[in-house]
Amino acid sequence: MTAKSKKLQGQVAIVTGASSGIGAGVAKALAADGASVVVNYSSSPDKAEEVLESIKQEGGEGFIYKADVSQEADVKQMFRETISRYGTVDILVNNAGLQRDAKFHEMSLEQWNHVIGINLTGQFLCAREAVQEFIRRGIVPERSASAGKIICMSSVHEVIPWAGHANYAASKGGVMMLMKTIAQEYAPLKIRVNSIGPGAIRTPINYAAWQTPQAYEQLLKLIPAKRIGEAEDIGKAAVWLASDDAEYVNGITLFVDGGMLLYPGFEDNG
Ligand code: BGC
Repeated sequence: MTAKSKKLQGQVAIVTGASSGIGAGVAKALAADGASVVVNYSSSPDKAEEVLESIKQEGGEGFIYKADVSQEADVKQMFRETISRYGTVDILVNNAGLQRDAKFHEMSLEQWNHVIGINLTGQFLCAREAVQEFIRRGIVPERSASAGKIICMSSVHEVIPWAGHANYAASKGGVMMLMKTIAQEYAPLKIRVNSIGPGAIRTPINYAAWQTPQAYEQLLKLIPAKRIGEAEDIGKAAVWLASDDAEYVNGITLFVDGGMLLYPGFEDNG
């Protein structure tokens, strides 16, 4: 790609939870389209380094930064550091997330709080810092038609109930209304806030669902497109949502799920 054809040239992106899985895929995709990327991680510096290395090998730019998104002081420091190195932030990808699965009647408060803390409170803390910076900077037409872009990583489980995962599904339902409310609140300032709702993507979070042929076959029953998604599928969606091609897109969840939301159980039934 020539510099001119890169959609995010000169922009600065923070991607949380970028040391593996979807976050790593999104960080690489944004960097390949010209953004300088902060590769946030919480516990795996080696993996974050690998992501940064691969970004640099492709001619991209960025740095790794350790921060626990559920901790206000960490988040504030990450934005301060980014702004001191790059001058501003244009794109936040609120990606960090995890599962701590348990039957509901056995779920501990620790399991509940941990998931809500990272998946929902983490998105609140990062989005708040981002919006403050977007308001401070305002629109700079050479950078983007928007004053800033936030992409929240949600899930098909913002709408599909998920037995055994009440904490996770509740966090993603919460992300949906957090995203829509911020989108409504700041659309007049040309700050765009959207979500991506991935289906089953081949990452460590759902390893058990695709690691054996038997598990994979079961999984495909839920996916009309008959293949698992890859982190690259989400990366492409993130580039589009972050770019000015999506300038008029605000407050949506873009599901990237191979049709998982199409009630595949009804394919030959009902
Ligand atoms: C979950 C995965 C799951 C997928 C589809 C995601 O949000 O993190 O574990 O495979 O939804 O059910």
